[in-house]
Amino acid sequence: MDESIIWTEKYRPKTFDDVIGQDHIVQKLKSFVEKKNLPHLLFAGPAGVGKSTLALVIARTLYGDTWKENFLELNASDERGIDVVRIKVKDFARTRAIGTVPFKIIFLDECDALTREAQQALRRTMETTTTTCRFILACNYSSKIIDPIQSRCAVFRFKPFDDAQRQKMLDNIAATEKLTIEPDAKTALVSVSEGDGRRLANLIQTCASVAPTITASNVYDLASTLSPHELQALMQLLVQQKFVDARAKLHELLVLHGLSGTDFIKQFSQEIWKLPISERAKVTLVDKAGDIEFRMVEGSDEFLQLEALLAHAIYVIADQNSSR
Ligand SMILES: Nc1ncnc2c1ncn2[C@@H]1O[C@H](COP(=O)(O)OP(=O)(O)O)[C@@H](O)[C@H]1O
Ligand SMILES: [Mg+2]
Repeated sequence: MDESIIWTEKYRPKTFDDVIGQDHIVQKLKSFVEKKNLPHLLFAGPAGVGKSTLALVIARTLYGDTWKENFLELNASDERGIDVVRIKVKDFARTRAIGTVPFKIIFLDECDALTREAQQALRRTMETTTTTCRFILACNYSSKIIDPIQSRCAVFRFKPFDDAQRQKMLDNIAATEKLTIEPDAKTALVSVSEGDGRRLANLIQTCASVAPTITASNVYDLASTLSPHELQALMQLLVQQKFVDARAKLHELLVLHGLSGTDFIKQFSQEIWKLPISERAKVTLVDKAGDIEFRMVEGSDEFLQLEALLAHAIYVIADQNSSR
């Protein structure tokens, strides 16, 4: 087994025919591509449902070997902000597309991270580059995108993959990697991954890396460890003093990903040491985390306790910022 390549990338469909599900979206996109006539697109939907994948499939199909020259991928939530996005877009839009397609594609991910002002700027950029570029915008919620942008785009709503579709992805990976997976482990993988194709591929890879035969208990054990990326996203929200968002993220991790409160605390405590805060603030937080863990073990409500921990973290971070 080649462990150097991430399976989410290895198993990302490269052609329309490889794409599982999202049937009516695929059908429409295919017809745009066949006519080499693409409107601006807005892809809305949760994580891991094929938004980036389909943007890439469009580019590969349209441009063939020169897709990389004609496709620019940017992330709107990049902390360097909309100005960097604008400069990069302008640079990219300056030259014509290579080959027979009259436009290039700019894929802008996580557009709901843009403020309304930034979205206005983006709208203007879309207008000024319209002869050379098409935009594909991706977001979780289309309601967070301003109307003038929505009305310039063909909007596609992506659905989470259903059980049968995730089963198909699993079978595909299992066959290629020659994995041995017990039947109830298959059920577990499909159920734990919810509608998310990325989570599924990641989880299969993690399970395969620890044991030659994947059992259901492997799956549940490994599913309960948080990906560093998600935990860091939550920590980031605390640093930015966004309590409501941090609380929503906590809810997502606990309810949607089925993480236990004590698992959360363990990983949270480790992550505290990496925060850009004073030593004293770190110690205060770790101390509090220990306290909260004790209360949880004693049987108090996990979510309430963790919520209190987040609130405490917000105070501690605010406090040390103001005393700097
Ligand atoms: N339609 C699909 N068919 C099969 N696998 C898919 C499909 N869409 C996504 N995947 C798997 O899920 C992963 C994440 O998909 P991606 O398109 O990056 O999601 P997002 O909607 O967050 O952009 C891909 O790398 C691939 O492994
Ligand atoms: Mg994506």
